[in-house]
Amino acid sequence: MDPDQNKRLAAEAALSYLPEQGVVGLGTGSTVHHFIVGVAALVRQGRQYVGVATSEQSRALATSLGVPMLDDAGPWDVLLCVDGADEVSEELDLIKGGGGAHTREKIVNFAARKNVIVVDERKLSKRLGERWAVPVEVLPFAHRETARLLAAHGTPTLRSRAGAPFRTDSGNYVYDLATGPIEKPRELDIHLKTTPGVVETGLFCGRADVVLVARGSHVETRTARDFGERLS
Ligand code: A5P
Repeated sequence: MDPDQNKRLAAEAALSYLPEQGVVGLGTGSTVHHFIVGVAALVRQGRQYVGVATSEQSRALATSLGVPMLDDAGPWDVLLCVDGADEVSEELDLIKGGGGAHTREKIVNFAARKNVIVVDERKLSKRLGERWAVPVEVLPFAHRETARLLAAHGTPTLRSRAGAPFRTDSGNYVYDLATGPIEKPRELDIHLKTTPGVVETGLFCGRADVVLVARGSHVETRTARDFGERLS
């Protein structure tokens, strides 16, 4: 099955987690794109959903499809947030931020009562950092100084687009921090977050209630509870 079909499968499976009505967090990326299209179809059928966007891209898509949206200020009573991820560990910790939206994604994730993550099997790894660098959003001010401090934890590369530094929706820069396999992602997250100039990291530890993994033609459901059971 082609990768986009796979993404669609996972995203459509997430539609079954929707409440009858209410506020829904709309993640960012090519997988969640299909979820937003599905929510819009339900809105057209009369279901009363209101979206909270995790990026300008998702806001534009949802708005263009007729999904009513709340503003960015919050607070919102987000019943469910559905988002993608770049890497998912066996513990269901995540690396996010391939699109540079991780700061807003993390805010909406924390606001949500339930978080469902949709991925295809290429995103799975044993430990975070095996396949993906950790995106770190930083203030442009003194960003090279911030990068010097980040280098204590890996190799930081300033993300660029068309020859200029990539800018997030908030106007900040992103360093992709190549760490290799991360032994203690929660600790790394705290170290990175306490570095002056860092706005947010793409490490999402313990933030996925359910991970839907498209594998071939079926979707596997992994839950935080399964992980608890695996540990015991
Ligand atoms: C956006 O910054 C990211 O966190 C995305 O959620 C993540 O990169 C997954 O995107 P895809 O579904 O496009 O792989």
